[in-house]
Amino acid sequence: MSKEIRENFGSKIGAVLAAAGSAVGLGNIWRFPIETGQNGGAAFIIVYILCVAILGLPIMISEFIIGRHTHTNTAGAYRKLAPGTQWKWVGRLGVLSGFIILSYYSVVAGWTAEYTKLSIYNSFDGKTATDFPAIFTNFVSNPWKPLIWMLLFMIVTHIIVIRGVKGGIEKFSKIMMPALFIIMMVLAICSISLPGASQGLEFLLKPDFSKINGSTILSAMGQAFFSLSLGLGCLCTYASYFRSDTNIGKTALNVSIIDTFVAIMSGFIIFPAVFNAGYTLNSNDIGPSLLFITLPNVFQQAFGNIPLLSYIVSILFYLLLVVAALTSTISMHEVVTAYLSEEFNLSRHKAALMVTAACSTIGIFCSLSFGPLNGIQLFGMSIFDLFDYISSNIFLPVGGMFIAIFTGWYLDKQIVKNEISNNGTLRIHYLKLVIFVLRYIAPIAIAIILLNQLGIFKFF
Ligand code: TRP
Repeated sequence: MSKEIRENFGSKIGAVLAAAGSAVGLGNIWRFPIETGQNGGAAFIIVYILCVAILGLPIMISEFIIGRHTHTNTAGAYRKLAPGTQWKWVGRLGVLSGFIILSYYSVVAGWTAEYTKLSIYNSFDGKTATDFPAIFTNFVSNPWKPLIWMLLFMIVTHIIVIRGVKGGIEKFSKIMMPALFIIMMVLAICSISLPGASQGLEFLLKPDFSKINGSTILSAMGQAFFSLSLGLGCLCTYASYFRSDTNIGKTALNVSIIDTFVAIMSGFIIFPAVFNAGYTLNSNDIGPSLLFITLPNVFQQAFGNIPLLSYIVSILFYLLLVVAALTSTISMHEVVTAYLSEEFNLSRHKAALMVTAACSTIGIFCSLSFGPLNGIQLFGMSIFDLFDYISSNIFLPVGGMFIAIFTGWYLDKQIVKNEISNNGTLRIHYLKLVIFVLRYIAPIAIAIILLNQLGIFKFF
């Protein structure tokens, strides 16, 4: 154990906003619209919401229980609750996933910073649809620029993390999360009031169930885990800083609602504008480059006759992405920093420095996989895509499955009850339901979806 005194979040709202800050990120604004676009719109959203409600919420409650009960990092938590067993590997797998996701996530986070800069310099002014692919490709394939932004992003994350839980993470989230909501509202109103927006709204609201298949369901589940920050002990680590009067069930519900709301809201910002600009849903428009090729052009076209508006909208949008990404990178950094500092008895500063240095190094390879290293393919994917696929479609669901089994089967039910009810001071009606889902529904559903999609066993 580290000698430093362990901090807590100062307030309940601070705890909710920090956890929501972790959850709301590029997953909501970058990954969710792409997944929705590629998987058929409204029908995907329905499957996604089911995954959040049936799997996400109970597993989030589980992470909160484990974290708050043990008041320690995610690997330490399993060591404390299940000493001498192999459960510690669930925590360790989490730390490893956090480390991998942080490395590639900061690359895209760096892109959002470059695009904020370009927006502020008004560099998109007068450009047309054919210019944007070149702007993006030139930028990501440049050996230096994306690296510098990625490193800068890591350094800012580092600075906030070393300022601690209350003075760094909580304070930052309390200012940034409300700012993020306001920006989103403004952008959604702008987008929905565009001519032709109805086509985008229809895409988001009118389900076509024929689009649903095994891979849609795996994507929806992977997306739910990724977006809610589940499966790697991130929220478990944050819950270790919860105070004893924080209501675990309510906090989990609030975080899930905020996260889902932001994801759907970003759909309402992006799709009406995309349809307004005359794009179709082919894979070039709705790929990973959606936010960096399609959207800058959308902002130009949609508000082009009022240049000031298109200037402001694009600055706000990219700023929103930077803020959302930062509250998430902080949370992943914290998982690994807390682990190193508490398990290896290092100071927070030293632990954080090791995380920053190591993630930056791996981040360099992820970043270069769009440029000088783009010929390197592993299992048919670039380094970046491989990290994304393995971590969100495999590690997170596997982690989530073991977290569910741990709380549902292994953990003393008295601990579960005491944590959810704050030692009997809260009336709770959902305990049995949560335990039932954690024991049977979540592990079985996750296993079926994973085995099916990895082709190990075909159920559907
Ligand atoms: N949830 C964040 C997003 O939507 C990313 C993230 C932060 C994350 N912490 C995590 C994903 C832990 C998985 C696990 O962008």
